[in-house]
Amino acid sequence: MQFHWYPGHMTKAKRQMQEDIKLIDLIIELVDARIPVSSRNPDIDELGKHKARLILMNKADLADAKKTEAWSRYFKEKGYFVVCIDARSKKGMKAIQNEIMEACKEKIERDLRRGIKNRPVRAMVVGIPNVGKSTFINTYAGKACAKTGNKPGVTKGKQWIRLNKNVELLDTPGILWPKFEDQKVGLFLALIGSIKDEILNTDELCVALLELLMRDYPGAVARRFEVEETKEPAALLGQIAQKRGCRKKGDEPDYSKAAALVIDEFRSGKIGRFTIELPEE
Ligand code: G4P
Repeated sequence: MQFHWYPGHMTKAKRQMQEDIKLIDLIIELVDARIPVSSRNPDIDELGKHKARLILMNKADLADAKKTEAWSRYFKEKGYFVVCIDARSKKGMKAIQNEIMEACKEKIERDLRRGIKNRPVRAMVVGIPNVGKSTFINTYAGKACAKTGNKPGVTKGKQWIRLNKNVELLDTPGILWPKFEDQKVGLFLALIGSIKDEILNTDELCVALLELLMRDYPGAVARRFEVEETKEPAALLGQIAQKRGCRKKGDEPDYSKAAALVIDEFRSGKIGRFTIELPEE
């Protein structure tokens, strides 16, 4: 499996992140609630080891609510502050402010001891591509928020978005590189659409998805496509092709078209809400 992140990009992204992290108190890390660990880059723990940490489990609208709860407990036990959100519809966003203040409690108290009052918490958003960083910043900051430069009239340098009197956000998110050397991680990232489809075999991806869904969510595929779930993935895909009228010339089933359709409906949540990675894995 190949991907667009080459060492040059990674080195540059990492260096940039190291610089930006020096400026902030809190790292707001977005993960995809359907694959909360595979959609992280664990290097962020080293890069941000002295910073307050908040994990936002985004796209919770597409994930299995019970498993989202379990993941939330998992991260909290590891010492992160956690909020589950759907950045697109703004669900869960209200809880964020409170968690930011909790996560930065020590820093705020330290400031107070030093006589510093009302200095806003500075935060930055990080995450691998496609987890919803831009959507989150737009939703959270909104259009009404003023951008604040360090000095008036200076456009160079960092831009901060003042969210309210307590929080400022760096306007550009930090892009982490996905870690997909592990085959399973690669598969999960491909399933949620984080790795470009052109470089993947859609048929194989679909078969892996069907197997996974039949194992963890028996009945979901049968309900959506009105087919009989069978252990033979090609036969199952054949049934789906037939139901959805995916045919080639000569009336052959068009497996690739059916595969693309299944993956598309999975990604958009039409088959159901699924979490395909479990905390114990
Ligand atoms: P990034 O900056 O981290 O790379 O991600 P970005 O915000 O561009 O979001 C990637 C895709 O994920 C977008 O879809 C966005 O709408 C979608 N998205 C973000 N947050 C959520 C969420 O909480 N739930 C759901 N279901 N989707 C979310 P897209 O297909 O690239 O664009 P569009 O369909 O919105 O036009």
